[in-house]
Amino acid sequence: MNTAESIRIERWNPAPAALSHELEMLGEVLHACVHAGASVSFVLPFSHEDATAFWRDHVLPAVRAGTRLVLLAWLDGRIMGTVQLDMLTPPNQPHRAEVKKLLVHPEARRRGVGKSLMTALEDHARRSRLTLLTLDTVTGGAAEPLYLSQGYVALGSIPQYALNFDSSKVEATTVMYKILSSR
Ligand SMILES: CC(C)(COP(=O)(O)OP(=O)(O)OC[C@H]1O[C@@H](n2cnc3c(N)ncnc32)[C@H](O)[C@@H]1OP(=O)(O)O)[C@@H](O)C(=O)NCCC(=O)NCCS
Repeated sequence: MNTAESIRIERWNPAPAALSHELEMLGEVLHACVHAGASVSFVLPFSHEDATAFWRDHVLPAVRAGTRLVLLAWLDGRIMGTVQLDMLTPPNQPHRAEVKKLLVHPEARRRGVGKSLMTALEDHARRSRLTLLTLDTVTGGAAEPLYLSQGYVALGSIPQYALNFDSSKVEATTVMYKILSSR
């Protein structure tokens, strides 16, 4: 498979010509992650159409409104990973954004895609003069050590926060932040 050297990270700029193909690939990444057990808001049953609809109806309008940055990780001509920066914060928090939906297709994991996406996201955040990034992630999940290795601080864990992917149990979430520069 691919190595970190062949990963291309780019900002999603939805254009009509490529839109339906990009939505289909993004839907495939989300669908595969949920079916592989990711705790990322959704529970089974979760169809390809559910996954594509999330990007089309929820994320795309925010990207077009300029309140959401989406990064895409391309491997061999396919989108295999993605992450978002939600900048729709209250008027008193223009310097903060929320990291959301870091997703790497199960077939492309442990090759540095997640790390590359988070590094690129931070570069974009700094260029946008953001000074604070916040997120939450399932406690004990694969993303927790990744965020810690990227310098995020874990504040603590909220028990019973969300159902897991097949609704068989509730899981805790860990709240994290990273200061990009002091104010
Ligand atoms: C979490 C996730 C994005 C990681 O993506 P990835 O491309 O496999 O991550 P990387 O290869 O960049 O890993 C970077 C580092 O993170 C840590 N890490 C990644 N996956 C890990 C795992 N399963 N267990 C422990 N540490 C892990 C390691 O320190 C790793 O470095 P190493 O491979 O040199 O040991 C991926 O597993 C995923 O999509 N999970 C499901 C969705 C999810 O939970 N997203 C988080 C939402 S908040």
